[in-house]
Amino acid sequence: MSRLSAGNADPALEWPGSMPRHVAIIMDGNGRWAKRRMLPRSAGHSQGVEAVRRAVSAALEFGIEYLTLYSFSSENWNRPKQEVGYLLDLLRRFANRDVAQLHAQGVRIRIIGERLSLAPDIVSLIEHSENLTRNNSALTLVVAFNYGARDELTRAVQAIARQIGDGTLNPRDVTPAMIEQHLDTRGIPDPDLVIRTSGEQRLSNFLLWQSAYSEFVFIDQAWPDFDRELFAAALRQFMARDRRFGGLAAPVS
Ligand code: IPE
Ligand code: IPE
Ligand code: MG
Repeated sequence: MSRLSAGNADPALEWPGSMPRHVAIIMDGNGRWAKRRMLPRSAGHSQGVEAVRRAVSAALEFGIEYLTLYSFSSENWNRPKQEVGYLLDLLRRFANRDVAQLHAQGVRIRIIGERLSLAPDIVSLIEHSENLTRNNSALTLVVAFNYGARDELTRAVQAIARQIGDGTLNPRDVTPAMIEQHLDTRGIPDPDLVIRTSGEQRLSNFLLWQSAYSEFVFIDQAWPDFDRELFAAALRQFMARDRRFGGLAAPVS
């Protein structure tokens, strides 16, 4: 299916190409959004949760299979204690308030990132969200929390090294597919499209392995301003790209 409409809300919108299976978003710019309004950074983060809700609804409407949201990086612990505390509380509130509704909408939730060092109540919320929604299939919402790609790859290398160390694995059997099986994203297809808001053009330790052949779209607006129209515009940019994966462009038929 190459032409999809954006749904009943906007029947005029015709997609110019195939919908990406997996869209990953670096939700950036909450602090600057708040600063411009003379508000505390926390106000930007709480408006950011509204943008998360809009992004999930749009992904469901557009028929995207996987939506990954970068919500807290392994480096974000370096922020002031008060801001970190606020972000952790937002996650707690999101898990308590939104997960039931997401479940009702058929959303499956997966959390990626290091979790052993998280507070036990957060680990319970993560496990509950994943277990409750594990059989849903309308959309897989992947939340990257306490996630850093270097940390993820380091944990994968440690797990593989342990198997080599105890003699159950031959180094010759280490393949890209095997490495993927040890990443937090195992079973999730690579992102076709990575979107970053707020004008920064960098990955900030997000999905380094998985984004090897992703398309990138950078949006000037800050994350709290993200909405269905900006999402649709990014998807249309993606659809105009020519993905070659190291090969040659498909001949025009
Ligand atoms: C993104 O917004 C949210 C997180 C990283 C948790 P920022 O908090 O990074 O906002 P800016 O980039 O400082 O504006
Ligand atoms: C990346 O944004 C992390 C998240 C969006 C969760 P940052 O704001 O932390 O990235 P840098 O510091 O600008 O690279
Ligand atoms: Mg930022």
